[in-house]
Amino acid sequence: MNSDIKEILFTEEMIREMSQKMGQQISYDYKDCDSILLVGLLKGSVPFLAELMKHITVPVTINFIKVSSYVGSESKVLQMKQDLDEDVEGRHILIVEDILDTGRTLKTVKELLVHRGAASVKVATMLDKVEGRVIPFEAEYVGFECPNAFVVGYGLDYNERYRELPYVGVLKEEVYM
Ligand code: XMP
Ligand code: MG
Repeated sequence: MNSDIKEILFTEEMIREMSQKMGQQISYDYKDCDSILLVGLLKGSVPFLAELMKHITVPVTINFIKVSSYVGSESKVLQMKQDLDEDVEGRHILIVEDILDTGRTLKTVKELLVHRGAASVKVATMLDKVEGRVIPFEAEYVGFECPNAFVVGYGLDYNERYRELPYVGVLKEEVYM
């Protein structure tokens, strides 16, 4: 285990098993669709998207969006850093994310894709920090409920580090204090 990690919450094996179950459920729910467009939010969703897509039996295509949030004068502002390079009108979209926390990011991105005329927009998240919610938002597919701690690994970072860890763990306080 990496020495900056206090505790492992979700092992590689747990994430693989969860992704398999989620993929089966998604395959069933979308069985009448020609294809699903998986939209990953960069960069954190990449390992989870790669695992999840292997377990979906409906044809998928993938694309990515990068948004970042910064604290503005009144509240947090979400900025589009990299947009999709295709039209989503009439597409069935499944947004894939590493962690759902306040709900701001996913709510904003979902509304944007609905506004662009997608046939449907749902959300699959590896982790759900239920206690972090600031605005009401629910994902259709949730891997694991996550305690209200700062977690890294399996795509999740602290200052761009730890994304490569094959598990999700709690970062030691002394690393970011
Ligand atoms: P919302 O808008 O729901 O967005 O707050 C979730 C985004 O916040 C980041 N986030 C975390 N990143 N460990 C991380 O590495 C965490 O514990 C954590 N909690 C929230 C993350 O970028 C996610 O996309
Ligand atoms: Mg993220």
